[in-house]
Amino acid sequence: MAEQETKKLIFSGIQPTGTFTLGNYIGAIRNWGPLQDEYRCVYCVVDMHAITVRQDPVKLRQNSLQAYALLLACGIDLEKSILFIQSHVRTHAELSWILSCNTQFGELSRMTQFKDKSQKHPDDVNAGLFTYPVLMAADILAYNADLVPVGVDQKQHLELTRDIAQRFNQRYGEFFTLPEPYIPPVGAKIMSLQEPTKKMSKSDTNPNACILILDDKDTIIRKCKRAVTDSEAEVRYAEGKDGINNLMTIYSSVTGKDFAAIEREFEGKGYGDFKLAVGEAVADHLRPMQETYAKLIADKAYLKECYTASDAKALAYSSRIVRKVYRKVGFVDAN
Ligand code: TYM
Repeated sequence: MAEQETKKLIFSGIQPTGTFTLGNYIGAIRNWGPLQDEYRCVYCVVDMHAITVRQDPVKLRQNSLQAYALLLACGIDLEKSILFIQSHVRTHAELSWILSCNTQFGELSRMTQFKDKSQKHPDDVNAGLFTYPVLMAADILAYNADLVPVGVDQKQHLELTRDIAQRFNQRYGEFFTLPEPYIPPVGAKIMSLQEPTKKMSKSDTNPNACILILDDKDTIIRKCKRAVTDSEAEVRYAEGKDGINNLMTIYSSVTGKDFAAIEREFEGKGYGDFKLAVGEAVADHLRPMQETYAKLIADKAYLKECYTASDAKALAYSSRIVRKVYRKVGFVDAN
Protein backbone atom coordinates (compact mmCIF):
# COMPACT_ATOMS: atom_id res chain seq x y z
CA MET A 1 0.00 0.00 0.00
CA ALA A 2 3.01 2.25 0.51
CA GLU A 3 3.01 3.80 -2.97
CA GLN A 4 -0.49 5.26 -2.52
CA GLU A 5 -0.12 6.70 0.94
CA THR A 6 -1.63 10.03 0.00
CA LYS A 7 -5.05 8.36 -0.30
CA LYS A 8 -7.16 8.15 2.84
CA LEU A 9 -7.48 4.77 4.49
CA ILE A 10 -10.77 2.96 5.01
CA PHE A 11 -11.23 0.12 7.47
CA SER A 12 -14.32 -1.98 8.04
CA GLY A 13 -15.24 -5.40 9.33
CA ILE A 14 -18.12 -7.84 9.53
CA GLN A 15 -18.87 -10.75 11.83
CA PRO A 16 -19.05 -14.24 10.32
CA THR A 17 -22.05 -15.28 12.37
CA GLY A 18 -24.16 -16.63 9.48
CA THR A 19 -25.16 -15.56 6.00
CA PHE A 20 -25.23 -11.78 5.72
CA THR A 21 -28.60 -10.05 5.81
CA LEU A 22 -29.91 -7.54 3.34
CA GLY A 23 -29.29 -5.03 6.17
CA ASN A 24 -25.57 -5.89 6.26
CA TYR A 25 -25.49 -5.64 2.50
CA ILE A 26 -27.31 -2.32 2.03
CA GLY A 27 -26.01 -0.65 5.19
CA ALA A 28 -22.39 -1.68 4.78
CA ILE A 29 -20.85 -4.12 2.30
CA ARG A 30 -22.41 -2.93 -0.93
CA ASN A 31 -20.68 0.40 -0.25
CA TRP A 32 -17.29 -1.18 0.29
CA GLY A 33 -16.60 -2.02 -3.36
CA PRO A 34 -17.20 1.46 -4.82
CA LEU A 35 -14.87 3.02 -2.22
CA GLN A 36 -11.88 1.09 -3.54
CA ASP A 37 -10.97 3.53 -6.29
CA GLU A 38 -10.88 6.58 -4.11
CA TYR A 39 -9.39 5.11 -0.93
CA ARG A 40 -6.94 2.51 0.31
CA CYS A 41 -9.31 -0.08 1.71
CA VAL A 42 -8.71 -2.67 4.41
CA TYR A 43 -11.59 -5.07 5.09
CA CYS A 44 -11.79 -7.85 7.60
CA VAL A 45 -13.84 -10.89 8.61
CA VAL A 46 -13.95 -10.36 12.37
CA ASP A 47 -14.05 -13.92 13.68
CA MET A 48 -12.60 -12.87 17.05
CA HIS A 49 -15.60 -10.61 17.59
CA ALA A 50 -17.93 -13.47 16.70
CA ILE A 51 -16.87 -15.61 19.69
CA THR A 52 -18.18 -13.03 22.17
CA VAL A 53 -21.40 -14.97 21.59
CA ARG A 54 -21.11 -18.77 21.84
CA GLN A 55 -20.34 -20.34 18.45
CA ASP A 56 -20.19 -23.89 17.21
CA PRO A 57 -16.51 -24.17 16.14
CA VAL A 58 -17.30 -26.18 12.99
CA LYS A 59 -19.92 -23.66 11.91
CA LEU A 60 -17.74 -20.68 12.75
CA ARG A 61 -15.01 -21.99 10.44
CA GLN A 62 -17.56 -22.53 7.65
CA ASN A 63 -19.18 -19.16 8.25
CA SER A 64 -15.82 -17.38 8.15
CA LEU A 65 -14.99 -18.87 4.76
CA GLN A 66 -18.50 -18.12 3.55
CA ALA A 67 -18.16 -14.52 4.75
CA TYR A 68 -14.82 -14.22 2.97
CA ALA A 69 -16.23 -15.55 -0.31
CA LEU A 70 -19.34 -13.37 0.02
CA LEU A 71 -17.26 -10.24 0.42
CA LEU A 72 -15.27 -11.10 -2.70
CA ALA A 73 -18.53 -11.79 -4.54
CA CYS A 74 -19.88 -8.42 -3.37
CA GLY A 75 -17.06 -6.66 -5.16
CA ILE A 76 -13.95 -6.51 -2.98
CA ASP A 77 -11.08 -6.52 -5.47
CA LEU A 78 -7.79 -7.84 -4.11
CA GLU A 79 -5.85 -5.91 -6.73
CA LYS A 80 -7.01 -2.78 -4.93
CA SER A 81 -7.84 -3.77 -1.36
CA ILE A 82 -6.85 -5.99 1.52
CA LEU A 83 -9.41 -8.54 2.74
CA PHE A 84 -8.17 -10.64 5.63
CA ILE A 85 -9.26 -12.75 8.57
CA GLN A 86 -8.95 -11.03 11.94
CA SER A 87 -7.63 -14.00 13.95
CA HIS A 88 -4.76 -14.39 11.45
CA VAL A 89 -3.34 -10.99 12.30
CA ARG A 90 -2.08 -10.90 15.88
CA THR A 91 -1.69 -7.12 16.09
CA HIS A 92 -5.45 -6.71 16.66
CA ALA A 93 -5.37 -8.63 19.95
CA GLU A 94 -2.09 -6.97 20.96
CA LEU A 95 -3.36 -3.44 20.42
CA SER A 96 -6.68 -4.32 22.01
CA TRP A 97 -4.92 -5.00 25.32
CA ILE A 98 -3.18 -1.63 25.31
CA LEU A 99 -6.36 0.19 24.37
CA SER A 100 -8.32 -1.60 27.08
CA CYS A 101 -5.90 -0.08 29.59
CA ASN A 102 -6.96 3.28 28.17
CA THR A 103 -10.71 2.65 28.28
CA GLN A 104 -12.93 3.23 31.26
CA PHE A 105 -15.29 0.63 32.70
CA GLY A 106 -18.03 3.27 32.72
CA GLU A 107 -17.61 3.97 29.00
CA LEU A 108 -18.04 0.31 28.13
CA SER A 109 -21.03 0.00 30.45
CA ARG A 110 -22.85 2.63 28.40
CA MET A 111 -22.62 0.71 25.10
CA THR A 112 -26.18 -0.08 24.02
CA GLN A 113 -25.09 -3.14 22.05
CA PHE A 114 -23.54 -4.62 25.20
CA LYS A 115 -26.76 -4.02 27.08
CA ASP A 116 -28.85 -5.58 24.28
CA LYS A 117 -26.60 -8.59 23.84
CA SER A 118 -26.29 -9.27 27.55
CA GLN A 119 -30.08 -9.30 27.76
CA LYS A 120 -30.26 -11.69 24.83
CA HIS A 121 -27.62 -14.03 26.30
CA PRO A 122 -28.08 -13.72 30.10
CA ASP A 123 -26.29 -17.04 30.67
CA ASP A 124 -23.09 -15.83 29.00
CA VAL A 125 -22.31 -12.19 29.79
CA ASN A 126 -18.61 -12.78 29.27
CA ALA A 127 -15.76 -10.27 29.58
CA GLY A 128 -15.20 -10.37 25.81
CA LEU A 129 -18.74 -9.19 25.19
CA PHE A 130 -18.01 -6.27 27.49
CA THR A 131 -14.66 -5.36 25.91
CA TYR A 132 -15.85 -6.05 22.35
CA PRO A 133 -15.77 -2.33 21.39
CA VAL A 134 -12.11 -2.11 22.45
CA LEU A 135 -11.20 -4.85 19.99
CA MET A 136 -13.16 -2.95 17.37
CA ALA A 137 -11.20 0.21 18.23
CA ALA A 138 -7.99 -1.82 17.86
CA ASP A 139 -9.11 -3.06 14.41
CA ILE A 140 -9.50 0.51 13.24
CA LEU A 141 -6.57 2.15 15.03
CA ALA A 142 -4.07 -0.59 14.06
CA TYR A 143 -4.31 0.89 10.55
CA ASN A 144 -4.80 4.51 11.61
CA ALA A 145 -7.94 4.50 9.46
CA ASP A 146 -9.49 7.80 8.39
CA LEU A 147 -12.96 6.49 7.55
CA VAL A 148 -15.07 3.57 8.69
CA PRO A 149 -18.06 2.61 6.51
CA VAL A 150 -20.74 1.12 8.78
CA GLY A 151 -24.47 1.08 9.40
CA VAL A 152 -26.00 3.35 12.01
CA ASP A 153 -25.92 0.66 14.74
CA GLN A 154 -22.11 0.91 14.90
CA LYS A 155 -22.01 4.68 15.40
CA GLN A 156 -21.68 4.50 19.18
CA HIS A 157 -18.73 2.11 18.87
CA LEU A 158 -17.10 4.53 16.47
CA GLU A 159 -17.55 7.40 18.89
CA LEU A 160 -15.92 5.30 21.61
CA THR A 161 -13.03 4.53 19.24
CA ARG A 162 -12.48 8.25 18.79
CA ASP A 163 -12.59 8.83 22.56
CA ILE A 164 -10.05 6.08 23.17
CA ALA A 165 -7.77 7.42 20.43
CA GLN A 166 -8.04 10.93 21.82
CA ARG A 167 -7.22 9.78 25.35
CA PHE A 168 -4.20 7.84 24.09
CA ASN A 169 -3.01 10.91 22.15
CA GLN A 170 -3.36 13.10 25.24
CA ARG A 171 -1.42 10.64 27.40
CA TYR A 172 1.33 9.65 25.02
CA GLY A 173 1.46 12.42 22.40
CA GLU A 174 -0.42 12.81 19.09
CA PHE A 175 -0.37 9.49 17.30
CA PHE A 176 -3.74 8.05 16.29
CA THR A 177 -5.94 9.51 13.57
CA LEU A 178 -9.49 10.12 14.85
CA PRO A 179 -11.59 7.98 12.48
CA GLU A 180 -14.84 9.29 11.02
CA PRO A 181 -17.89 7.11 10.47
CA TYR A 182 -18.99 6.79 6.85
CA ILE A 183 -22.72 6.13 7.00
CA PRO A 184 -24.80 5.87 3.82
CA PRO A 185 -27.54 8.53 3.43
CA VAL A 186 -30.14 5.87 2.51
CA GLY A 187 -30.22 2.36 4.01
CA ALA A 188 -28.03 2.89 7.08
CA LYS A 189 -30.61 1.00 9.12
CA ILE A 190 -32.70 -1.60 7.33
CA MET A 191 -35.52 -2.72 9.56
CA SER A 192 -37.04 -6.12 10.33
CA LEU A 193 -39.75 -7.09 7.84
CA GLN A 194 -41.90 -8.34 10.70
CA GLU A 195 -41.27 -5.62 13.29
CA PRO A 196 -40.25 -2.58 11.26
CA THR A 197 -39.32 -0.52 14.32
CA LYS A 198 -36.46 -2.99 15.01
CA LYS A 199 -33.21 -3.44 13.07
CA MET A 200 -33.07 -6.35 10.61
CA SER A 201 -30.73 -8.83 12.25
CA LYS A 202 -29.31 -12.30 11.62
CA SER A 203 -30.18 -13.28 15.16
CA ASP A 204 -33.92 -12.66 14.70
CA THR A 205 -35.78 -15.85 15.55
CA ASN A 206 -38.52 -15.23 12.97
CA PRO A 207 -37.07 -16.25 9.56
CA ASN A 208 -39.56 -13.99 7.75
CA ALA A 209 -38.11 -10.92 9.48
CA CYS A 210 -34.89 -10.99 7.57
CA ILE A 211 -33.76 -11.45 3.95
CA LEU A 212 -30.46 -13.30 3.68
CA ILE A 213 -28.38 -12.37 0.68
CA LEU A 214 -28.17 -16.01 -0.42
CA ASP A 215 -31.95 -16.50 -0.30
CA ASP A 216 -33.43 -17.63 -3.62
CA LYS A 217 -35.92 -15.54 -5.59
CA ASP A 218 -39.04 -17.34 -4.33
CA THR A 219 -37.96 -17.00 -0.72
CA ILE A 220 -37.18 -13.31 -1.13
CA ILE A 221 -40.55 -12.63 -2.76
CA ARG A 222 -42.38 -14.64 -0.11
CA LYS A 223 -40.65 -12.72 2.71
CA CYS A 224 -41.47 -9.39 1.05
CA LYS A 225 -45.10 -10.40 0.54
CA ARG A 226 -45.38 -11.22 4.25
CA ALA A 227 -43.76 -7.95 5.34
CA VAL A 228 -45.75 -6.05 7.94
CA THR A 229 -47.13 -2.76 6.58
CA ASP A 230 -50.13 -0.57 7.50
CA SER A 231 -53.78 -0.38 6.60
CA GLU A 232 -53.51 2.73 4.42
CA ALA A 233 -52.67 1.02 1.11
CA GLU A 234 -50.72 4.00 -0.21
CA VAL A 235 -47.06 3.71 -1.18
CA ARG A 236 -45.80 6.91 0.41
CA TYR A 237 -42.79 7.69 2.61
CA ALA A 238 -44.17 9.18 5.80
CA GLU A 239 -43.90 9.14 9.56
CA GLY A 240 -45.68 6.21 11.16
CA LYS A 241 -45.46 4.06 8.00
CA ASP A 242 -42.41 2.13 9.20
CA GLY A 243 -43.04 -1.00 7.15
CA ILE A 244 -43.60 0.88 3.89
CA ASN A 245 -40.72 3.26 4.60
CA ASN A 246 -38.46 0.24 5.05
CA LEU A 247 -39.62 -1.43 1.82
CA MET A 248 -39.20 1.87 -0.04
CA THR A 249 -35.67 2.19 1.35
CA ILE A 250 -34.85 -1.33 0.21
CA TYR A 251 -36.38 -0.75 -3.23
CA SER A 252 -34.56 2.55 -3.59
CA SER A 253 -31.23 0.96 -2.59
CA VAL A 254 -31.42 -1.82 -5.17
CA THR A 255 -32.96 0.16 -8.06
CA GLY A 256 -31.39 3.58 -7.53
CA LYS A 257 -34.84 5.22 -7.75
CA ASP A 258 -35.59 8.00 -5.28
CA PHE A 259 -38.67 8.06 -3.04
CA ALA A 260 -40.60 10.51 -5.24
CA ALA A 261 -40.11 8.26 -8.28
CA ILE A 262 -41.21 5.22 -6.28
CA GLU A 263 -44.35 7.01 -5.09
CA ARG A 264 -45.18 7.91 -8.71
CA GLU A 265 -44.51 4.37 -9.92
CA PHE A 266 -46.97 2.86 -7.44
CA GLU A 267 -49.61 5.56 -7.42
CA GLY A 268 -53.05 3.93 -7.40
CA LYS A 269 -51.54 0.47 -6.96
CA GLY A 270 -51.93 -1.68 -3.85
CA TYR A 271 -49.29 -2.98 -1.45
CA GLY A 272 -49.44 -6.41 -3.11
CA ASP A 273 -47.98 -5.02 -6.36
CA PHE A 274 -45.39 -3.01 -4.48
CA LYS A 275 -44.23 -5.92 -2.32
CA LEU A 276 -43.88 -8.15 -5.38
CA ALA A 277 -41.85 -5.46 -7.15
CA VAL A 278 -39.57 -5.07 -4.13
CA GLY A 279 -39.01 -8.84 -3.91
CA GLU A 280 -38.24 -9.13 -7.62
CA ALA A 281 -35.91 -6.15 -7.62
CA VAL A 282 -33.97 -7.46 -4.62
CA ALA A 283 -33.67 -10.96 -6.11
CA ASP A 284 -32.56 -9.62 -9.51
CA HIS A 285 -30.05 -7.32 -7.88
CA LEU A 286 -28.52 -10.13 -5.80
CA ARG A 287 -28.43 -12.81 -8.52
CA PRO A 288 -25.06 -11.97 -10.15
CA MET A 289 -23.40 -11.80 -6.72
CA GLN A 290 -24.94 -15.17 -5.80
CA GLU A 291 -23.58 -16.75 -8.99
CA THR A 292 -20.08 -15.43 -8.31
CA TYR A 293 -20.32 -16.62 -4.72
CA ALA A 294 -21.22 -20.18 -5.78
CA LYS A 295 -18.03 -20.38 -7.86
CA LEU A 296 -15.82 -18.89 -5.14
CA ILE A 297 -17.02 -21.04 -2.26
CA ALA A 298 -16.35 -24.17 -4.32
CA ASP A 299 -12.68 -23.20 -4.63
CA LYS A 300 -11.23 -23.35 -1.13
CA ALA A 301 -7.65 -23.35 -2.43
CA TYR A 302 -8.24 -20.04 -4.18
CA LEU A 303 -9.83 -18.54 -1.07
CA LYS A 304 -6.83 -19.64 0.98
CA GLU A 305 -4.46 -18.04 -1.49
CA CYS A 306 -6.46 -14.80 -1.23
CA TYR A 307 -6.58 -14.56 2.53
CA THR A 308 -2.99 -15.70 3.01
CA ALA A 309 -1.75 -12.85 0.83
CA SER A 310 -4.01 -10.31 2.51
CA ASP A 311 -3.21 -11.55 6.03
CA ALA A 312 0.48 -10.91 5.36
CA LYS A 313 -0.16 -7.41 4.05
CA ALA A 314 -2.42 -6.56 6.99
CA LEU A 315 0.16 -7.86 9.46
CA ALA A 316 3.00 -5.91 7.84
CA TYR A 317 1.01 -2.69 7.83
CA SER A 318 -0.45 -2.92 11.33
CA SER A 319 2.81 -4.18 12.89
CA ARG A 320 4.51 -0.90 12.06
CA ILE A 321 1.81 0.98 13.91
CA VAL A 322 1.58 -1.36 16.88
CA ARG A 323 5.37 -1.37 17.27
CA LYS A 324 5.26 2.41 17.61
CA VAL A 325 2.45 2.12 20.16
CA TYR A 326 4.59 -0.30 22.20
CA ARG A 327 7.42 2.24 22.24
CA LYS A 328 5.04 5.05 23.21
CA VAL A 329 3.69 3.19 26.23
CA GLY A 330 7.22 2.33 27.39
CA PHE A 331 7.71 -1.34 26.45
CA VAL A 332 11.35 -2.36 25.93
CA ASP A 333 12.15 -3.00 22.25
CA ALA A 334 12.02 -6.71 21.48
CA ASN A 335 14.89 -6.61 18.99
P1 TYM B 1 -21.95 -6.60 12.09
O1 TYM B 1 -21.22 -7.83 11.69
O2 TYM B 1 -23.08 -6.72 13.07
O3 TYM B 1 -22.54 -5.89 10.81
C1 TYM B 1 -21.72 -5.58 9.69
C2 TYM B 1 -22.14 -4.27 9.09
O4 TYM B 1 -23.52 -4.30 8.72
C3 TYM B 1 -24.19 -3.17 9.26
N1 TYM B 1 -25.58 -3.56 9.56
C4 TYM B 1 -26.65 -2.91 9.10
N2 TYM B 1 -26.79 -1.84 8.31
C5 TYM B 1 -28.05 -1.44 8.01
N3 TYM B 1 -29.18 -2.07 8.45
C6 TYM B 1 -29.08 -3.15 9.24
N4 TYM B 1 -30.17 -3.78 9.64
C7 TYM B 1 -27.78 -3.63 9.59
N5 TYM B 1 -27.34 -4.67 10.34
C8 TYM B 1 -25.99 -4.61 10.31
C9 TYM B 1 -23.41 -2.83 10.53
O5 TYM B 1 -23.61 -1.48 10.91
C10 TYM B 1 -22.00 -3.10 10.09
O6 TYM B 1 -21.46 -1.99 9.41
N6 TYM B 1 -18.83 -4.50 15.33
C11 TYM B 1 -19.10 -4.69 13.93
C12 TYM B 1 -18.00 -5.38 13.19
C13 TYM B 1 -16.66 -4.74 13.35
C14 TYM B 1 -16.23 -3.54 12.72
C15 TYM B 1 -14.89 -3.36 13.15
C16 TYM B 1 -16.85 -2.64 11.87
C17 TYM B 1 -15.63 -5.22 14.09
N7 TYM B 1 -14.53 -4.38 13.96
C18 TYM B 1 -14.16 -2.26 12.72
C19 TYM B 1 -16.09 -1.54 11.45
C20 TYM B 1 -14.78 -1.35 11.87
C21 TYM B 1 -20.34 -5.55 13.80
O7 TYM B 1 -20.70 -6.28 14.67
O8 TYM B 1 -20.93 -5.49 12.58
